[in-house]
Amino acid sequence: MKYILGMESSCDETSAAVVRVGDDGQMEIAANIVASQVETHRLYGGVVPEIASRAHIEAVSGITREALTWAGIGVADLCAVAVTAFPGLIGALLVGVNFAKSLAYANGLPLVAVDHIKAHVAAAYLADETLKPPFLAVVVSGGHTALYDVRTHTDFRLIGSTRDDAAGEAFDKIGRVIGLPYPAGAALDQLAREGDPKAVPLPSPALGGDTLDLSFSGLKTAALNYIHHCEQTGVAVPRADVAASLTRAVTAGITQKVGAALERTGYKTVVLAGGVAANSHLRAGMKKTARAHGAGLCVPPIPLCGDNGAMVAAAGWFEYLAGHFADVSLNASAEDAPPVCQDLF
Ligand code: KG4
Ligand code: ZN
Repeated sequence: MKYILGMESSCDETSAAVVRVGDDGQMEIAANIVASQVETHRLYGGVVPEIASRAHIEAVSGITREALTWAGIGVADLCAVAVTAFPGLIGALLVGVNFAKSLAYANGLPLVAVDHIKAHVAAAYLADETLKPPFLAVVVSGGHTALYDVRTHTDFRLIGSTRDDAAGEAFDKIGRVIGLPYPAGAALDQLAREGDPKAVPLPSPALGGDTLDLSFSGLKTAALNYIHHCEQTGVAVPRADVAASLTRAVTAGITQKVGAALERTGYKTVVLAGGVAANSHLRAGMKKTARAHGAGLCVPPIPLCGDNGAMVAAAGWFEYLAGHFADVSLNASAEDAPPVCQDLF
């Protein structure tokens, strides 16, 4: 039996988790502590990077101690420290990376750098112990909307992605304009149940042709134009109809590309991950698409869709098994590519 610590600080949640891995390789969450900053950022209508970094600094050591206590272990029982190193807000990432580096160095533990996107997908292993690559993964979050050919636990090939905004960004932006508090995704999900998904004509985010790419900026602009037109002509904005129509367009666009990707790859399993994977309409649409293609769908439970340390520990475990270790020179990167590290000593 082994224990791995997972640390997450890429955006507005500080999280530390312990995942227990049995001798048979089965993973189990021993602790998953999440300190959310959502209430703080809500005052500003979005994440304020500097405030996020400062809040991570304040929370990080306390939640790590809490995770170890909850798991009933000490630092000496850990086999490794895994930390999200990219992508995300650079100042926020640096807090987790620096903390993890110090903890690993001071206790002689291996350090593992984790890709936040791979971590979202790894949440699915915690939900379904039978899940094994290869499979298709679609990651839909506040910063990403992308399709991956997951060859192994650590080898991901990007096969389609948004060319501009992420789906979560579109939900948050339109949600804010119709008066929903940040982050608007969950409230918009609820509101969409009361509206007519065909009421507002909106363009599809699925790009035409052979590509598996998407684009959400046109959809966002069309929804904004519709809202402004209502306001300028003195018509009450049909908020629920906007929410339902936007949700329908996002779901239809993503599932169209997922269907095409299943055909192209021939995979019989698809994983839906990321914060927006909590969306009930998208979950239902993905279920239908998977079934239509004779494929199985794996979606993590809602608490594991948003940012959390357990998914980082799960992804870190597979990097650990593959022998992918970082050292004290580990840096963070805001981009999708790993940080370039330079050991100055
Ligand atoms: O993965 P995540 O926690 O952070 C990033 O890595 O970006 O995703 C956050 C995003 C936000 O845009 C939030 O509004 C959205 O996930 N979200 C939802 C739902 N719950 C969270 N979007 C739609 N429906 C939901 N139920
Ligand atoms: Zn995320």
